[in-house]
Amino acid sequence: MNKKKRSENFRSEVSRNRRANPFKFGSIVDEPYFTNRLEELKRIRSILESEVHLILMSPRRYGKSSLIRKILKTIDRPAITLDMQVVTSEIDFAEQLMKKICSLNPLQKVKHALKSFRFIPMVSLNPGSEELNVSFGSVKAVDLILEDVLNLTDSIFTKERPIVVFDEFQEVRKISVHFEKRLRSILQYHNNSNYVFLGSQESLIRDIFEQKNNPFYHFGYLFKLSKIPKKEFQLFLEDRLKPQSSDYMEIAENILTFTDGHPHYTQRLAFQVWEILASANEIKYPVLTAVEQILEFHDVDYERWWSSLKRTDMKVLIGLTLTDDSPMSKEFLQKFNVGSSSTVFSSLKRLLENGYLVKIKDHYEIDDPFFKRWISGKRKS
Ligand SMILES: Nc1ncnc2c1ncn2[C@@H]1O[C@H](COP(=O)(O)OP(=O)(O)OP(=O)(O)O)[C@@H](O)[C@H]1O
Ligand SMILES: [Mg+2]
Repeated sequence: MNKKKRSENFRSEVSRNRRANPFKFGSIVDEPYFTNRLEELKRIRSILESEVHLILMSPRRYGKSSLIRKILKTIDRPAITLDMQVVTSEIDFAEQLMKKICSLNPLQKVKHALKSFRFIPMVSLNPGSEELNVSFGSVKAVDLILEDVLNLTDSIFTKERPIVVFDEFQEVRKISVHFEKRLRSILQYHNNSNYVFLGSQESLIRDIFEQKNNPFYHFGYLFKLSKIPKKEFQLFLEDRLKPQSSDYMEIAENILTFTDGHPHYTQRLAFQVWEILASANEIKYPVLTAVEQILEFHDVDYERWWSSLKRTDMKVLIGLTLTDDSPMSKEFLQKFNVGSSSTVFSSLKRLLENGYLVKIKDHYEIDDPFFKRWISGKRKS
């Protein structure tokens, strides 16, 4: 859909419900809450048309799931999405996958395919929710079950090539020690499906797909999703803030200065600003007020995060809040009394793994701009 059409759609949606907040956060977004990503949409579509698999990574809440969902909606091919975060074991993985295969295919076709299975699952319909249940019972031959179910995923859609998405794929390592190896040993023979691996822990994803000795080494095309360019996000914000304030341009700019174009935090802050403007549009500093409200709302969470940190991690975060110096520089080590560079290195690694920091082109940033403001506020008070 072109920009003009999107904007028209959005306006008609708003005029139907003038009072609805036009921003959304916390879950997957699509029109009219979705902006930009035109280049990414084009490139990912083109990869999915090829026979190459895709690895899409970004820090938390940059919009991976929304982007993939949007693409799947426009590609006329069967799609299966499995969130690895809620998979509890390899058998559970096989059962969830089987459930999705059953829901996308006529029962007769599935029944026929099951004849070649070495272990036949129990498939039942939950009468209350109309939901399918698949259970392999307490069978021990996990490897055979996995192989049968995954091979069926690749073979059952005879006319169209399926797209199979594994969301939060880095969780594969928590499910079982053999899982990563087993999966790859089966998937490598598939030539009908496109696999898409989404991941939000860059170091883990890189380890899985970029380390020579790991099973998924160079298994697909690695695509790193960035923040939304500020120029594009500015237009998206302006369009939605315009009916609320004549200062919409400045407000949009202030929101983006605070969030630096982080998709989730930008929508979060814009949502709050819109609420403030809708209740009293003569308010002088809507963005500042919204930031304060959000900080107040999350104060307990931030206290908890902070008190769970090691001393060195606290010092590194304070340093990153107060200066733009590299945390590995001599000045930083001295100024914030963080000890040796190896201590800082371990701290940075820990903070990255726990999602407090993100690394963008050799530059470390605190991921949550509100948490950053909370830290600097505490240092001042
Ligand atoms: N293209 C977009 N336009 C505007 N806002 C977006 C866009 N993509 C994502 N967002 C915002 O970011 C939020 C997070 O999006 P999404 O859940 O797709 O990200 P994710 O990378 O899959 O997150 P997670 O790491 O938690 O799985 C959305 O709720 C929305 O507020
Ligand atoms: Mg996601």
